[in-house]
Amino acid sequence: MNPYLKEYKWSNIGAMLKNNKATPKQEHKDFHGHLVVISGATSGIGYETARLYASHGAELLVINRNQEKSEQLKQEIERDFNVPCNYYLADFTRLEHVHAAADMLANLGRDIAVLIHNAGVFNTTKRFTADNLEEVFQVNYLASFIINQRLKEKLKQQKHARIIYVNSEGHRFVIGGLKLEDLRWERQHYTGLKSYGSAKTAQLLSMFQFSRFFQQSGVTINAMHPGDVRTNMGENNGRIYKFFKHLMINPTARTPKLSAQALYYLGVSDEVEGVSGKFFNFTTEEIPAPHALDPIVAEKLWHVSLEMGGRQWTQSTMRC
Ligand SMILES: NC(=O)c1ccc[n+]([C@@H]2O[C@H](COP(=O)([O-])OP(=O)(O)OC[C@H]3O[C@@H](n4cnc5c(N)ncnc54)[C@H](OP(=O)(O)O)[C@@H]3O)[C@@H](O)[C@H]2O)c1
Repeated sequence: MNPYLKEYKWSNIGAMLKNNKATPKQEHKDFHGHLVVISGATSGIGYETARLYASHGAELLVINRNQEKSEQLKQEIERDFNVPCNYYLADFTRLEHVHAAADMLANLGRDIAVLIHNAGVFNTTKRFTADNLEEVFQVNYLASFIINQRLKEKLKQQKHARIIYVNSEGHRFVIGGLKLEDLRWERQHYTGLKSYGSAKTAQLLSMFQFSRFFQQSGVTINAMHPGDVRTNMGENNGRIYKFFKHLMINPTARTPKLSAQALYYLGVSDEVEGVSGKFFNFTTEEIPAPHALDPIVAEKLWHVSLEMGGRQWTQSTMRC
């Protein structure tokens, strides 16, 4: 029996369907002098978001796994917008890289105005990371958890910062909720939708915990669905999935420029000043699925994540 079933409301699903078609609110405020950190800025939503923030004057520090694409992005942004775009290389399938990235951010010596956790992956088959964890869970959720955990004192001391999770309506795919006892998918049947939905659910559950931690500190944390947009998401999978994606998903998918517009609004607009612990579809607040609001699972997940995240702290050099 699904414990969340009776809490489902059709009105929330109706709102999601309506908001999926909406156009996000726009913000035009200048952002010169502010540092914005974005993970996974070499493609899709992260790429468009980096460009939009830079076009408003923000300085960028992007965390990517691919050196060549990062170098290309840096040159493009600095040429087009005349703002610094530094990058740091970290592959989120390696927890030591995630910890090194967190160390680097914690020791920056300057304030982070907006921190956007965007890097993500969608796998149709089960894969494990160098740390022997399920890849989607590690890349989409655990990496962002570790970075927040390692940065939370610094951000609190800053007294002002906005953290944004690029989450997904896909969290609704796991209607039975997150299976904490089987995060390596040894007992459940693995599907791309379920593992993706589980990782996004975990991120929402952690958002509520972090939001409580940051209460009254001037630091906010929110999550958003960036729309159903045409990007490289899923292109790492086999031919059948890609055929389906190109035939059925891409034709109706929208431009990631809209996601960037929403992420700029959520990161900068005065209208969301002080708003924390909320889930937005683009820029409209929505109620997440009931399993993503379960405080008992959230509390357990927090401890499991600390354990899984380990203390494999390493210092590595910042490559800019
Ligand atoms: N597209 C949609 O419709 C949609 C809908 C809902 C939510 N989202 C979310 O939006 C976010 C961005 O995705 P996207 O659609 O823009 O897809 P994308 O074009 O594939 O971009 C994903 C980004 O994450 C990076 N990345 C992937 N694996 C990584 C790893 N192991 N370590 C570090 N970085 C890694 C990628 O780097 P490379 O360039 O090196 O591959 C890329 O920069 C994801 O969190 C996704 O779940 C997307």
